[in-house]
Amino acid sequence: MNRTLLRLLVRSRGDYLSGQHASDALGMTRAGVWKQITKLRELGFVIEAVPSRGYRLVSPPDLSPDYLLLCLEGGFWGNVIVHDRVDSTNEAAMSLCGEAVPQHGTVVIADSQSKGRGRLGRSWLSPPRKNVYLSMVLLPDLAPRDAPLLTLLAAVASAEAIRRQCNAPAAIKWPNDLMLGGKKVGGILTEMRTDPDRIRCSVIGIGLNVNARTGDFPPELREIATSLLIETGIRHDRNALVIEVLRSFEDWYRVLIAQGREPILAEWRRLASTLGKDVRVTFGEETIRGTAVDITDEGMLVLRRDDGTQRIVSAGDVTHLR
Ligand code: BTN
Repeated sequence: MNRTLLRLLVRSRGDYLSGQHASDALGMTRAGVWKQITKLRELGFVIEAVPSRGYRLVSPPDLSPDYLLLCLEGGFWGNVIVHDRVDSTNEAAMSLCGEAVPQHGTVVIADSQSKGRGRLGRSWLSPPRKNVYLSMVLLPDLAPRDAPLLTLLAAVASAEAIRRQCNAPAAIKWPNDLMLGGKKVGGILTEMRTDPDRIRCSVIGIGLNVNARTGDFPPELREIATSLLIETGIRHDRNALVIEVLRSFEDWYRVLIAQGREPILAEWRRLASTLGKDVRVTFGEETIRGTAVDITDEGMLVLRRDDGTQRIVSAGDVTHLR
């Protein structure tokens, strides 16, 4: 594939790229350009060719690593790996973390997962051709106790990406469920390798139910899980959503490095649907009720109980009561 030609088409942003410009930039004849366009078409890129105007990229193939990487060029995402099917993108990304020199800013994406992992040892439904399953490899300069910040950051980035790209009012339910219409539309699972005082390598996995239909969910999930298609009535472009999530994550990551945790906590609070609600939190055998009043600097949930006492919870499942 001719990456320079694809870059020119991507940078033209839906406008026409003149054959002459392409031939000058690539240092090849117009016939040579045409041959490269044919090769891109064979790879699934839909490219319109109009005499006297030039070439226009109409649509890239779904989840094309070359296209995704070109759209993200200039930032810190240096490598995008797309699998047709893996056990779990988090698992694949964790094995990259185990390499001698793991690379900050690698993204692992899959069309489907055979053993998608959810929080608290659960599985994550991962059928093919519908949803987004992606895991980011990061080498953050953070202490292990600050790791929850990355999960909060990923929740903020994902909710904002859904709002911008899909025009849908995504919210965050503590700790990091992405919610739409009162049901779960996505989730985040952070895993990591740590040294005693720093995170050596962290993997942040994001699963978004994009174009799944009600019938794709088993009956027991239909009351609690949803997809962007179900909520908006529109099929959504997985490439565009992945790009928006990664751009938004990168922007917030830069904010974290430059300004610390406060702006992320503030944005999390703004997008949270849990704060102010009466909730039931279940963790292990224990269940407690209270009003969710805030999160701590470390991302733990602060509950005010009926007797006025406060309780801080670090993990668990939240049910909104009202
Ligand atoms: C949750 O239970 O809410 C977290 C779900 C996280 C699912 C994503 S899909 C991509 C990545 N790979 C996995 O195996 N899990 C995460």
